[in-house]
Amino acid sequence: MSFDVQRIRQDFPILSQSIRGKPLVFLDSGASAQKPRAVIDAMVRCMEERYANVHRGAYFLSEAATEAYEAARAAVARFINAADPREVIFTSNSTMAINLVAHSWGRGVLRPGQAVLISEMEHHANIVPWQMLRDAGLGVELRVARVTDAGELDMDDVAAKLADGKVGLVAVTHMSNVLGTVTPAERLVRMAHAAGAKILLDGSQAAVHRRVDMQALGADFYAFTGHKLYGPTGIGVLWARLEHQERMPPFLGGGDMISMVTLERSEWAPPPAKFEAGTPPIVEAIGLHAAIDYVTAIGMPAVEAHERGLVDHAMRRLSDIEGVALLGRAQDRGGVFAFSLDNAHSHDLATLLDRTGIAVRAGRHCAEPLHARFGVEAGTVRASFGLYTTEGEIDYLAEALTKAREFFS
Ligand code: ALA
Repeated sequence: MSFDVQRIRQDFPILSQSIRGKPLVFLDSGASAQKPRAVIDAMVRCMEERYANVHRGAYFLSEAATEAYEAARAAVARFINAADPREVIFTSNSTMAINLVAHSWGRGVLRPGQAVLISEMEHHANIVPWQMLRDAGLGVELRVARVTDAGELDMDDVAAKLADGKVGLVAVTHMSNVLGTVTPAERLVRMAHAAGAKILLDGSQAAVHRRVDMQALGADFYAFTGHKLYGPTGIGVLWARLEHQERMPPFLGGGDMISMVTLERSEWAPPPAKFEAGTPPIVEAIGLHAAIDYVTAIGMPAVEAHERGLVDHAMRRLSDIEGVALLGRAQDRGGVFAFSLDNAHSHDLATLLDRTGIAVRAGRHCAEPLHARFGVEAGTVRASFGLYTTEGEIDYLAEALTKAREFFS
């Protein structure tokens, strides 16, 4: 199917709105993407026609909902080319997926004296859980790999921090939510494994913009979230190899994660149910399935090609504006651009852009250490693209920034 962005935009009802009398220019998909009609319809259909709790009822509606929930797991597995649907654990978001690894694998499998290696470009969701693990009194060290001035992972520093063989887990982003940098995931996997470490990739941004293939990547854990992938909020994915799931103690206890309970003790259900205590996000899983079907029908290679065009266009247009300083200029990058404009505060600039119908994120984008690394503690404005973003919208942003410069001078 050829990629027709104008036709795709018609699938997203929200995009045809005017905001403050101006056509909506939504450039905050990195925070949360808009939803196509197919996702909205699938969720409404579930609640109107096929809703009941899953894994619990011996009646038609519960069986239908269970089938749809497990079909969503199979769809996720196909989407990321997992070897087995049981490698897919449904969580509430990427944050919960990473916390699950930190609490369960981190406390249950990592040994005193071992270290976790993260990087300076991580989202707080891939920093704070590891600080909590470090501070839990288990003797786990936390190391941080540096980021270069160009906004790339400093691979020499990664190698140096792996060299003593004490790192048990490398936990890094696959694509920065601030710099847009795509990290060399395959190389990182090889380096981690050669040093005797396991590796978790935070794919919250990457899985949306390019095809990710678990079997080709060879990592140990991969986290991403539904709401950035044009699906609903409230559902995320932890892909984890079965051999790791077997060794991981449960994180949350409750219904559905057990095979037997007495008042004295319990036994765990096999993976992945062991990690899905309580009523899961049923309608959300069905919405995520619809989102995956939607992007798969368009084709992830076509999405990636469209977004590459947007990145080149944005790089040209934003670099041309006097006073705009882009954060990071990585070679391999996706459609996320953080920048500052002269001395304008990021919140003031975002507010001014909002008056023209442009939605962008302002602040430190849940990446305070990275902003400190680049000396922009006051924050930046971030424009992030989705498959419905057009070059015309980037031009509109560039024109608005030129005018904003005059306003703030
Ligand atoms: N992680 C999301 C962002 O980068 C919320 O904006």
